[in-house]
This record gives sequence, C-alpha cells and structure tokens, in this order.
Amino acid sequence: MAIRNIREIGDPVLEKVCKEVKEVTPRIQELISDMYDTLYEANGVGLAASQVGVLKQIVVIDTTGEDPILLINPKIIETSGEQTGYEGCLSVPGKTATVTRPNYVKIVAYNENMEPFELEGTELLARAILHELDHLQGHLYVEKAEGPLQDVEEVEEET
Ligand code: NI
Repeated sequence: MAIRNIREIGDPVLEKVCKEVKEVTPRIQELISDMYDTLYEANGVGLAASQVGVLKQIVVIDTTGEDPILLINPKIIETSGEQTGYEGCLSVPGKTATVTRPNYVKIVAYNENMEPFELEGTELLARAILHELDHLQGHLYVEKAEGPLQDVEEVEEET
C-alpha cells in the first residue's frame, strides 16, 4: 500500500495532456494500485494519474466505495442530457462549485489486461467520468465553474 502525493491546483502537471498507455507493465500495475490507495485514503470519488504527477491516460473511479472502476485510455462515444450540481476535486482541496455537465455518458476504455470495454454512466457516475477525463486533457473543473468557488464546509451548512 502506497499513498502518493496529490498535486494541487497551480501545479503545472495538472495542465498537461496525458499520453496513451501502450502496455500495462509492472510499474503501471503498481501505479494503479497506488492510485486506488490514494483515492480511498482521501475519500475521493475519482483520481486521474496526472493528479499524482504521472502523465498517462489512467483513471480510477469509485462513486460508492464498493465499485472500483479502472479506465485506461478512455474515450467518449456519446453524451446526452444535462445535470447541474456541486463538484469538487482532490486537487482543489476544501472547495466546491456548481458545474453543468451531460447527465449521460458512454465511453470505451481498456482494462488492466488491455481489453476494451464500454461503460455507460448517468448522474454522479457520468459526472465523475467526465471530470476525470477532463483531467487527462489537462483541464480542471474550476474552468467550468458557474460562479465563484465556495468552501465545502459553508455549502454543507447550507444544504
Ligand atoms: Ni479532480
């Protein structure tokens, strides 16, 4: 088990485009394992490799704490609908803002054996997938925020 350091907003690595994974080497297997450890330690919903300083197209997501999803080289096939809600990011600690995104997404990605699979998500899962795929392109949710960033604690008191 290894927790990696999560890069925070302002770190240039978060603005870089991640490269495709060609092969899942032992080093990449270790990275994936560490990304899960780091995600769960931080109580996050998703983590992209660039957030731990590695510019590869790898994402881990778990919206329930019991449903880990690994996405290697993910690509969007289809989106539809719209949802507006609060969003946060482990690279922007303590902050939240309202972001509008599609309510449905369908992607294709590769698993740890580099076998392709399709995944559909709605609501929180769609939001998490789209948020993490933005990271792989060097984008943070704050670019899409409607209105100012708020402190998470203040928003939790309001709701
Ligand atoms: Ni994020």
